[in-house]
Amino acid sequence: MKQLTVLAVPIILLLLSLSFLFRPTTPPSLYSRQAFEPDRRLRVYVADLPRALNYGLLDLYWSLPAADSRIQASSDPDHPPPRNHPPYPDNPLIKQYSAEYWLLASLRAPATAAVRVVADWREADVVFVPFFATLSAEMELGWGTKGAFRRKDGNEDYRRQREVVDRVTSHPAWRRSGGRDHIFVLTDPVAMWHVRTEIAPAILLVVDFGGWYKLDSKFASRDSSYMIQHTQVSLLKDVIVPYTHLLPTLHFSENKDRPTLLYFKGAKHRHRGGLVREKLWDLLDNEPDIVMEEGFPNATGREQSIKGMRASEFCLHPSGDTPTSCRLFDAIASLCIPVIVSDGVELPFEGMIDYTEFSIFVSVSNAMRPKWLANHLRNISKHEKDEFRRNLAHVQPMFEYDTSYSNSRGSAHPDGAVNYIWKKIHQKLPMIQEAVIREKRKPDGTSIPLRCHCT
Ligand SMILES: *[C@@H]1O[C@H](CO)[C@@H](O)[C@H](O)[C@H]1NC(C)=O
Ligand SMILES: *[C@@H]1O[C@H](CO)[C@@H](O)[C@H](O)[C@H]1NC(C)=O
Repeated sequence: MKQLTVLAVPIILLLLSLSFLFRPTTPPSLYSRQAFEPDRRLRVYVADLPRALNYGLLDLYWSLPAADSRIQASSDPDHPPPRNHPPYPDNPLIKQYSAEYWLLASLRAPATAAVRVVADWREADVVFVPFFATLSAEMELGWGTKGAFRRKDGNEDYRRQREVVDRVTSHPAWRRSGGRDHIFVLTDPVAMWHVRTEIAPAILLVVDFGGWYKLDSKFASRDSSYMIQHTQVSLLKDVIVPYTHLLPTLHFSENKDRPTLLYFKGAKHRHRGGLVREKLWDLLDNEPDIVMEEGFPNATGREQSIKGMRASEFCLHPSGDTPTSCRLFDAIASLCIPVIVSDGVELPFEGMIDYTEFSIFVSVSNAMRPKWLANHLRNISKHEKDEFRRNLAHVQPMFEYDTSYSNSRGSAHPDGAVNYIWKKIHQKLPMIQEAVIREKRKPDGTSIPLRCHCT
């Protein structure tokens, strides 16, 4: 063995010196650096967009003279704006998607643990597109001409989407990668509605894939020109981000008795994919220790939710229009153990945390069996529930976007949702770089059908 080592040293030295001889005159590919420094911070270049497409949109929002047309004027907390209004809308329809604001803010902060902003795109691992796509879409939906959202004509949101895509795709950074290393924050399921095919190769930050792709020909034949191929979104390149919870955080030390077994508040009837919810409602409505409430989208409804979630052991999370909703993150903030009945659900930070340590997963088919769900939950021991709740308290900070969020000891939390999103993007980088390099070698005229990247 020793002799082998003795031999190996000069051979390695020889190889090293040869590699100097054969070194290309141009510096090695940008990407090879990553392989040798796996621990270094993610290098982010912020695409150059006019202020009107991010912070300028916020100024516009706070200057709107009227309330959001989709809710009662008295329920719009932002119009007229209160004196000390938050930086991003407090309107729950919009606030739940606030990831775009906090991600951009983290790139402007002097020190963000997980990333380093670079001034030259050639040095970047990824290009962040600083467009407030959610705010743009929601302003069109809440203040635009009725029905204009699905059209391109007279749609201010579309005009902005077009400007973003035209600017970003004409930059050399996009040409280098075909957009694969570009990041779009599309928390709102209707963000960038009209340009999805154009940005599909990029890293999409979404709450789930609901409403994103055509699964089969049945769907494709419907009016769904805005939908893309299911091969164009994937957990390999895209990142699931949390909704912003709307209910206040309950700290573990403030936890009290929970007399209710299971709680759900929401609309019983949903237009799409709501069948599960409606059937569950009928099955559970008559159980004595289960509370199913139809809520109001105003302050009364909010108080109802806070009380309900804090007084219940479990909180039901059925799929509605989309596989996930803000409700799941409100349950975590309220230390109410989530019961997830949504077969195709995708969740943020998977692999970094194990949801089975603090949530119950139930298949739709089991949940539809009479009495099954209630019995299943009653079967869970106090000891197990205590354990789940302790674990919930442990993961709570990962779902906080607001950097002014304080933990129970009063210090700002350095490691909230924003940093976990950056870390998750960093984890995907090797796959994305591989895709960019493979793409580069394909000669002109090659035609390769899209392959499934699904899991
Ligand atoms: C919320 O809406 C319900 C139903 O319309 C109403 O009874 C209640 O008074 C409202 N609460 C507030 C605070 O506006
Ligand atoms: C509840 O526990 C009993 C006894 O362990 C078991 O037989 C039953 O299948 C469980 N029911 C459900 C719905 O999990």
